[in-house]
Amino acid sequence: MPRRTKSPVERVVAPEAATIFRRRLHRWFRAHSRDLPWRKTRDPYRILISELMLQQTQVSRVLDFYRRFLERFPDLPTLAKARPQRVMEAWEGLGYYARARNLHKLAIHVTTERDGVIPSEPATLRELPGVGAYTAGAVASFAYEKRAALVDTNVARVLHRVFAPELNPKSGAGLKRLWQIAEQLLPRTGRHTWTHNQALMELGALVCTARAPKCGACPVQRGCASVTRFAAHS
Ligand code: ADE
Repeated sequence: MPRRTKSPVERVVAPEAATIFRRRLHRWFRAHSRDLPWRKTRDPYRILISELMLQQTQVSRVLDFYRRFLERFPDLPTLAKARPQRVMEAWEGLGYYARARNLHKLAIHVTTERDGVIPSEPATLRELPGVGAYTAGAVASFAYEKRAALVDTNVARVLHRVFAPELNPKSGAGLKRLWQIAEQLLPRTGRHTWTHNQALMELGALVCTARAPKCGACPVQRGCASVTRFAAHS
């Protein structure tokens, strides 16, 4: 069980527990992760496109859209110059079209105001159209290998179950706490943060699923505060 101590931001995860969690998670990721195109690049533009597409859409659906979108708009200047209608056409079928409108605005903004460079710091990324806390953490850690936390639905579920089942992850306070836990779990270096964040998302997608989690296959089931709740299913 995680040890609790009081400090300015309360430590939910003891450093030793965090180290063990990371070691087990990263080893599992190296053995079991899917081979996905956005994991083979550090190009901030490509990472940004993948993360925006993946926000509300499953990986299997995104794969084709991602490839075709990048064929049409291979880089930020090409996207910035495109007619809005062409961008919407390329997004057609993915839904949540505000994502495409914001992406186009972002491309124009970065090209005209920021010398074509997508920022690397989460706080600066958040100034861009359509970029929230999750996307900022994803671009910073996946493209620039910055030591930045991220929490999306999958990661929130994993952290909630493993470390803080008493929280309500849908409340503002609960979500804030999950971000704190994500921060406390970060490795020391940015390079390891890439693996760490990808691994957390992969665990949520493949093992710690919303329904019928596969606790028997989970690398962090020892130390998980919810494993007994799901034991009957896995
Ligand atoms: N969902 C959001 N980002 C992802 C990523 N990098 N890999 C797999 N699924 C994701």
